[in-house]
Amino acid sequence: MSTDTALSQEHHRGAFPSRNVFILAAIGSAVGLGNIWRFPYVAYKNGGGAFILPYLVALLVAGIAFLWLDYSMGHKYRGSAPLSFARAGRRAEGLGWWQVGICFIIAIYYAAVLAWAGKYTIYSFTKAWGPEPGDFLFGTVLKAGDPGVTMDFVPGIVVALAIVWVVIAVIMSMGVQKGIGATSVIFIPLLIVVFLTLVVQALLLPGAAEGLNALFTPKWSALADASVWAAAFGQIFFSLSIGFGIMITYASYVGKRTDMTSSGLVVGFANSGFELLAGIGVFAALGFMAQASGTPVDEVVSSGLGLAFVAFPAIINEAPAGSLLGVLFFASLVMAGLTSLISVLEVVISAVRDKFEMKRLTATLSVVVPTGVISLVLFSTTSGVFVLDIMDHFVNRFGILLVAVISMIVLSWGLSKLPTLADHMNKTGAIKLGRVWRIMISIVAPAALSYVLVLEFIAVVKEPYEGYPGWMLGILGWGMAAAIAIGGFVVARVPWRPDTSLTIGSEDDEKEEVLS
Ligand code: ALA
Repeated sequence: MSTDTALSQEHHRGAFPSRNVFILAAIGSAVGLGNIWRFPYVAYKNGGGAFILPYLVALLVAGIAFLWLDYSMGHKYRGSAPLSFARAGRRAEGLGWWQVGICFIIAIYYAAVLAWAGKYTIYSFTKAWGPEPGDFLFGTVLKAGDPGVTMDFVPGIVVALAIVWVVIAVIMSMGVQKGIGATSVIFIPLLIVVFLTLVVQALLLPGAAEGLNALFTPKWSALADASVWAAAFGQIFFSLSIGFGIMITYASYVGKRTDMTSSGLVVGFANSGFELLAGIGVFAALGFMAQASGTPVDEVVSSGLGLAFVAFPAIINEAPAGSLLGVLFFASLVMAGLTSLISVLEVVISAVRDKFEMKRLTATLSVVVPTGVISLVLFSTTSGVFVLDIMDHFVNRFGILLVAVISMIVLSWGLSKLPTLADHMNKTGAIKLGRVWRIMISIVAPAALSYVLVLEFIAVVKEPYEGYPGWMLGILGWGMAAAIAIGGFVVARVPWRPDTSLTIGSEDDEKEEVLS
């Protein structure tokens, strides 16, 4: 293929206009629901202050190193996840489609949480949940029955969820620069201002210090517990948006001369900084709640849904200027979630575009319409909340972490690609990737993640996750995780269009570029 054709193909895929826009988009992807509602609770439950140690180990041993691996793949091979893997080695393409499958699943439930957060932003003005936010959420909003027993229609969520999907369709059809880039440039600075205001307001509440004590008091014994380390690795991968194709896809839209290693550090530390800030804000508010209700902090802490949609409304009911606190909190969830959801969907859209050579609008509609319909069907029933919990748990552990381990093994041991990927990054990067990085990716990170996965596997086989009925775990948990992995390798058998070059990023291609 001539260099001209390759260039025109690249132009046609879309590109970020500058390094700053790419960094904002990457931070937008990383900072999401995982930072605001997942991290505070995960940290608290897994040793509090002592969790910082496994968290930092996971960030430095696997997180940043894997982020650089994702960047190197996308930036060198200039394609979506499947195309980049296919260019690295034909038989590895399935790993890319597996990641596409993971994003498809995440998009289905992520959109539902965004819809709830949108509704709660409006409810905050009047504190529409009344004196019992728990009854309001499970009784009025979700009408949740017993797990798996009821599939009755809940109209309340449908309109909000449909709005989320329409907004997403519009942003995605506008492309990389005007859609994804512009959304991140607007919402990430706004999110930082709104979230900082929230944290300051929370810190000024009476009892805030008690909450921070509860979060940061180290329980050192937790470090002996393997599940604490599993939680740290799981949190880092989900939160940094690594291992599910996002950073490969985004890096493929970045100019060839951009310093990718320094960009990775900026994104990694911005994400963890935001996570820490979220922990401080959320626990300051929980400390206030504990003091107001005369209960210890551990009795007001709850996870995910409960934290955002039950504990926070209860805090808002009691706090001075509570409505403001509510609007700041839920609007932050909406903004952080939106800039992450677009990155998750871009993985699917760019893969479909690359493989079937579709126009942006056609690819957007062929991805967003079916994903949106499935999301609407699943989450407009009384079982939506259980679907979310199971899918989220299984796709994180036996989707993201598993495909991450296998990708590292295939790229380092199967295809011996680490030296060439490092060379590529080192051409423009201020921070050089050398032996330490290669050892991290080929030995340390796969060993650590495999250990974590085996433990997780034993734990969920011994005790069914959260006691859900076996058929639900079988279909939505194990079945879903197996289907996206197997499905990935099946889709990889569909041949590429004749115009698609599979040699971009190859050694010959790079040599040609140097000469031209
Ligand atoms: N990285 C995104 C989050 O933390 C997916 O929610």
